[in-house]
Amino acid sequence: MLKKIIRKVIKKVLTGSEGIVLSSDYPDIGKINLEKLGIYLHVPFCRHPCFYCPYFKEKYNRKDAVDYSNAVVKEVEFYKNIMGNADITSFYIGGGTPTTMVGSGLEEIIGAIKQSFSLKCGISTETHPDDITPSMVEKLKGMGVENVSMGVESFNDRFLEIIGRTYRSDRARDAVSVLVESGFKCVNIDLMFGLPNQEVKDVEKDIQTAIKLGVDQISAYPIFTFPHTKLEEVVRKKGYSLPGIMKRRAMLKKIEELCYNAGMERTSVWAFTKKGVRKYSSVTVPKYIGIGAGAGSLVPGSFFINTFSVEEYIKFLERRGKPPVALHIDFGEMDEMLHWLYWRIYETKIIKKEFEEQFGRDFDDIFKRIFRLFRMLGMARDEGDRIVMTDRGNYWVHVLQNVFSLDFIGRVWNICLADKWPNEIELI
Ligand SMILES: C[S@@+](CC[C@H](N)C(=O)[O-])C[C@H]1O[C@@H](n2cnc3c(N)ncnc32)[C@H](O)[C@@H]1O
Ligand code: SF4
Repeated sequence: MLKKIIRKVIKKVLTGSEGIVLSSDYPDIGKINLEKLGIYLHVPFCRHPCFYCPYFKEKYNRKDAVDYSNAVVKEVEFYKNIMGNADITSFYIGGGTPTTMVGSGLEEIIGAIKQSFSLKCGISTETHPDDITPSMVEKLKGMGVENVSMGVESFNDRFLEIIGRTYRSDRARDAVSVLVESGFKCVNIDLMFGLPNQEVKDVEKDIQTAIKLGVDQISAYPIFTFPHTKLEEVVRKKGYSLPGIMKRRAMLKKIEELCYNAGMERTSVWAFTKKGVRKYSSVTVPKYIGIGAGAGSLVPGSFFINTFSVEEYIKFLERRGKPPVALHIDFGEMDEMLHWLYWRIYETKIIKKEFEEQFGRDFDDIFKRIFRLFRMLGMARDEGDRIVMTDRGNYWVHVLQNVFSLDFIGRVWNICLADKWPNEIELI
């Protein structure tokens, strides 16, 4: 209840409106021809879906993957017709587990994207320790992949077993070494902390192992409990205990200390990257089109998401030849500016000039009051041309993200997973 009131007040103060309406009317996708446009491709397949994972995915099978690939190529053709040979400055493949589709349609999708647009960047993709072999690395490089991110989660067999991962730590280490030795521009690994029954010393060992193996970036996520996953149920049934907020804070502090001592810098609320390496990042591109089931697109004035069903996605593209959009939100100027600000805070640095270039408005004129408060609370430093979040600020962003935005995302995903074509939703 309190959360609801605070959320309502924040939204009202910042934008003048109370709720967020996601409409089920088909949006006017119109002519998209933007500078610095990104592509996000969603591969919604995993060989062994994990009980705690909130992302939209289905169990992999070859036939569905090939049918899905054909449908994705149709969606690419739709965008080609309205965008011409537009420059693409970032291309990110997420999931699910994108490497499940190597050999069952991923090559064809990438080929269609390269033929349709002018790719000005390398490809970044997620992968899984079970999929990584020298031969997979060769295939990825052949497709133009330059950056990889792998979900290791832990190097400790006890926790890998608790969270139901299919591999054990020796396999995870081998897979990391194969990636590190393959000459990718950036190798990121995901580690989760705050796992059931985990202690600070367990997190410390995981981070030390990652650093020793020589990864370029570590993304360390506290495990989140989304309502549509089985995490809470499993913890309850098996009698595990999830670390409380103070222990999680101590874990985060240990991660910060080890990463800074190893010469890494913070590049987002969760990620630490070696100095001199360009960070691996998926979610912070200012404008992108999302291709595939469950993918979201952010274009001027609007955000829209495709249906969360592989079957419906394929049927819709076969019948209508256009993106199977399930929901969209129209953005006012203030919504767009706040959305931009949210992701810059997430990246921990705000370059004022970039805001001015994007919106033609003075950053300080609009956000002076918010950052005065952040500075007074020791959450940010104003360095004149940029604002830098402090570790304390990042911690509170983490707390607020848990309470508000993940709650918001969780509710939208919950609805979209239960209903492939939901009616209008009003979230307050
Ligand atoms: C798409 S997966 C990564 C690639 C691949 N599917 C894998 O699992 O190795 C994205 C990442 O989200 C993180 N993740 C999944 N469920 C989470 C949860 N409930 N809370 C926090 N992070 C989570 C994990 O670190 C995972 O590696
Ligand atoms: S964590 Fe990775 S492998 Fe597990 S279900 Fe989520 S996307 Fe799939």
